[in-house]
Amino acid sequence: MILAITNQKGGVGKTTTAINVAAALASKGRKTLLVDLDPQANSTMSFLDAEAMQGQRGIYHALVDGETPIREVVMTATKMPELDVAPSSIALAKLEAKLIGEIDGYYRLKDAIASVRRRYEYIVMDTPPALGLITVNSLVAATHVLIPIQSSYFALEGTDDLLETIDKIKRRTNPRLQILGAVLTLFDKRTRLSRDIHEQVGRVFGDKLFDTVISKSVRLEESPAYKESIFTFSPRSSGAFEYYKLSEEILSRV
Ligand SMILES: Nc1ncnc2c1ncn2[C@@H]1O[C@H](COP(=O)(O)OP(=O)(O)OP(=O)(O)O)[C@@H](O)[C@H]1O
Ligand SMILES: [Mg+2]
Repeated sequence: MILAITNQKGGVGKTTTAINVAAALASKGRKTLLVDLDPQANSTMSFLDAEAMQGQRGIYHALVDGETPIREVVMTATKMPELDVAPSSIALAKLEAKLIGEIDGYYRLKDAIASVRRRYEYIVMDTPPALGLITVNSLVAATHVLIPIQSSYFALEGTDDLLETIDKIKRRTNPRLQILGAVLTLFDKRTRLSRDIHEQVGRVFGDKLFDTVISKSVRLEESPAYKESIFTFSPRSSGAFEYYKLSEEILSRV
């Protein structure tokens, strides 16, 4: 499975979902690679020390030309030996400009991943909050897409554009791409709004909406600062329980 975690809306829980789903899969003892495709590098910093990153090449280098194989930029998560990370950095913000006019511009990630596919059972990609070239690269490389939806007033804003983009990519370049599902994040079961949004999202996604809902949890916000996933940082928290359940649901759908 090559899983793109995508929603062009900002702050909906893409990174939180990517790091904890990747950790859940890796903790099953299966080699897992987390590819950070966001120039903000939040996923990278959730598992790697800034010091270890100094002077290292990252995913930008593996995509900008054919000269750096992705295995040369991959690093092992500081506290999780089964999890590898293809790190991002702010350099990635230059990628779109560099790839303008390149005929294979949308295929760079697919090609880069092809050389390490056999090493990893699962590859999880965290994407930036935009529907630009980087996100398209991830959808072209992916076998499945997971869409985090924040339980807030504008939850479904932009979903049409995202689904249309996924559809276009399926028709033209990646016919086997499947929407694995949508997951509600930042859920607060005490509020009526959250419950209303749950219903609305259910109407749009039908049985593609995961049964598991990710609640608001301070522990989920804290764990990246300690370079840990929720499973080691706070194993008894709601976040650990819910992301574990989500990863089980993901595996049951693949
Ligand atoms: N379930 C949750 N409970 C509490 N806080 C959360 C939860 N999920 C995410 N957050 C927090 O909300 C903020 C946005 O989450 P996150 O970074 O995962 O979203 P994102 O979609 O990756 O954002 P961006 O679009 O900027 O990349 C972060 O501060 C994160 O710690
Ligand atoms: Mg993010």
